[in-house]
Amino acid sequence: MGNLIAIIPAAGIGKRLEQGINKAFVQIAGVPILVRCLKMLEDTSIIKKAVIAVAPNEVEDAIVMLRKFQKQYFPSILFTVVPGGSERQDSVANALIAISENEGYVAVHDAARPFTGKEVFLRVLKAAEKYGAAVAAVPVKDTIKIAGKTGEVLATPDRRLMYAVQTPQIFDIGLLKKAYANLREHPVKITDDASVVELLGQKVVIAMGCYENIKITTPEDLVFAESFLAAQGDAMNTNNLQMPQFRIGMGFDVHKLERGRRLMLCGIEVPYKKGLLGHSDADVALHALMDALLGGAALGDIGRYFPDTDEHFKGADSVELTKQIAYMLQIEGWRINNVDVTIIAEQPKLAEYIKAMQNSVAQMLKISADCVNIKATTTEKLGFTGRGEGIAATAVASLVK
Ligand code: CTP
Ligand code: MG
Repeated sequence: MGNLIAIIPAAGIGKRLEQGINKAFVQIAGVPILVRCLKMLEDTSIIKKAVIAVAPNEVEDAIVMLRKFQKQYFPSILFTVVPGGSERQDSVANALIAISENEGYVAVHDAARPFTGKEVFLRVLKAAEKYGAAVAAVPVKDTIKIAGKTGEVLATPDRRLMYAVQTPQIFDIGLLKKAYANLREHPVKITDDASVVELLGQKVVIAMGCYENIKITTPEDLVFAESFLAAQGDAMNTNNLQMPQFRIGMGFDVHKLERGRRLMLCGIEVPYKKGLLGHSDADVALHALMDALLGGAALGDIGRYFPDTDEHFKGADSVELTKQIAYMLQIEGWRINNVDVTIIAEQPKLAEYIKAMQNSVAQMLKISADCVNIKATTTEKLGFTGRGEGIAATAVASLVK
């Protein structure tokens, strides 16, 4: 396999992406698109040299930015930055001047296509080595119509013959230099490099690209880029916070049963000869639930926020405390996915109160009742719960951000 040099046109203004900067510098999960493109080239392991064209006033910034990322993402690519021109073809022409080699192959590849992959590069290179000029392309999915100025359909070409052309476009270096020299002498506006070679009357062949090889152009493309990277497990993601985070928390609590107290469970008063003893209303189920929520969010436990040494919380309504915890999570950006509470009590029988408890918790947390599960169990008369000395509760909560 011969010498393959990359030309990366990156001197556009990215108008259609609407980010207010050249899209080559727009970051996806903390990494600029141009850097992602170079990392992809590094991963092909067939490109050792890249000439990058950016706007003349961006050359310095681009060098600083690329040096910052080179060691980590594209250590084996030797890069040069050159000033681009007002049209893409001018940028490619300027980059071509910076290439002294006359032998081997040059791959022109848009900075805005960071998802191409090695397979496509290898297919296009193989075809270029055979025919001198080859482009990545994919069969069009939509029917194409040729329309006149007022929108009237003039023709419907056979879709089976139509391809959407991508980059890389790979050429014999000598051939591309000759083609651009010809373009300088006979200037016309072209939209891809293959056209420059076609103007010479030289054969260009198509090699299979891939549909993921999008050119990041409009804002929806950034949405695609982010989800594509997330699905692949983005190895370059330096900003963990931009990935969805899933958390699970668990809580456990016990309170003693005493005569003369009300029995509060999940904010519902359950008629019974005894109630739970505690500094607050001793709603053991809500206490376990609060700890699960705080645990999932890595925010500690309820003792940190509502200490039982604080007179303020004497007889406190656990429903209000739970609402406060839900609010804290909301402030931190967490959404509650689901909660599951188990109440461990020998007596009283809780079955007929479960539905009310479920609705009560859903209201406190401002989530749908079908995301809340409450269940009760006994310990078969074993242990302190079995002897009716107290009630225990466990809870699990799952959170997403
Ligand atoms: N390009 C370039 N020099 C130009 C214009 C474009 O090097 N004068 C580069 C872009 O930076 C991009 C690639 O050519 O990597 C493809 O062009 P396009 O997708 O049109 O990018 P922009 O011109 O930046 O975007 P827009 O047309 O929305 O402004
Ligand atoms: Mg453009």
